[in-house]
Amino acid sequence: MKAANEPSSASVSAGKHTFSARLATPADIPTILAIERAAGSAAHWPENTYYEVFTPEAPARIAIVLQDQSHSIQGFVIARLTSGECELENIAVTPNLQRRGAGTNLIQSLIAAVRERGALSIHLEVRDSNSAARAFYEKCGFANTGRRPKYYSGSEEEEEQEDAMLYSLFL
Ligand SMILES: CC(C)(COP(=O)(O)OP(=O)(O)OC[C@H]1O[C@@H](n2cnc3c(N)ncnc32)[C@H](O)[C@@H]1OP(=O)(O)O)[C@@H](O)C(=O)NCCC(=O)NCCS
Repeated sequence: MKAANEPSSASVSAGKHTFSARLATPADIPTILAIERAAGSAAHWPENTYYEVFTPEAPARIAIVLQDQSHSIQGFVIARLTSGECELENIAVTPNLQRRGAGTNLIQSLIAAVRERGALSIHLEVRDSNSAARAFYEKCGFANTGRRPKYYSGSEEEEEQEDAMLYSLFL
């Protein structure tokens, strides 16, 4: 990932919780993976996909982690930059810290990083049934721009096909 080692952080107090965002590094991957696995509706990637994010030949990406006051990572967001646009690929917050503003903090940090890199919009797709994430994106200002029928195809583990809902935020 192009800018993974740049120091970048911002502290935001969300209610009683103070979180600080910084760019992720490969050393964060075990914690990111643990949060992703604990957050059932997150996109589940194989471990090596997270490592590939940080390889020099990988597409330009922004990977941000959110730390609590004791510097423990409690959430992450990973997004890909292409042709002036950003695709939010994965976001998750530790389950017992959800609904405390961490996700909003991650989106705000992503928006700042996307703006710094000159991209003009953020796009994403989310499962039709993930009503919590859809409400979250809408609260963060994303607009529902469409539906992609049967985007999530049934695999051995996922028995049913499911539509993706498309969301965009223009900066
Ligand atoms: C989606 C996710 C990242 C949101 O993070 P979060 O820290 O819980 O979000 P916030 O606390 O910043 O919530 C901001 C707003 O989003 C909405 N929201 C968040 N979770 C919600 C839920 N479960 N139900 C309804 N609305 C919700 C609310 O409007 C909330 O504001 P409020 O608490 O003042 O009502 C988190 O729920 C998560 O990790 N989910 C599992 C992984 C996942 O589904 N990722 C998305 C895959 S596309």
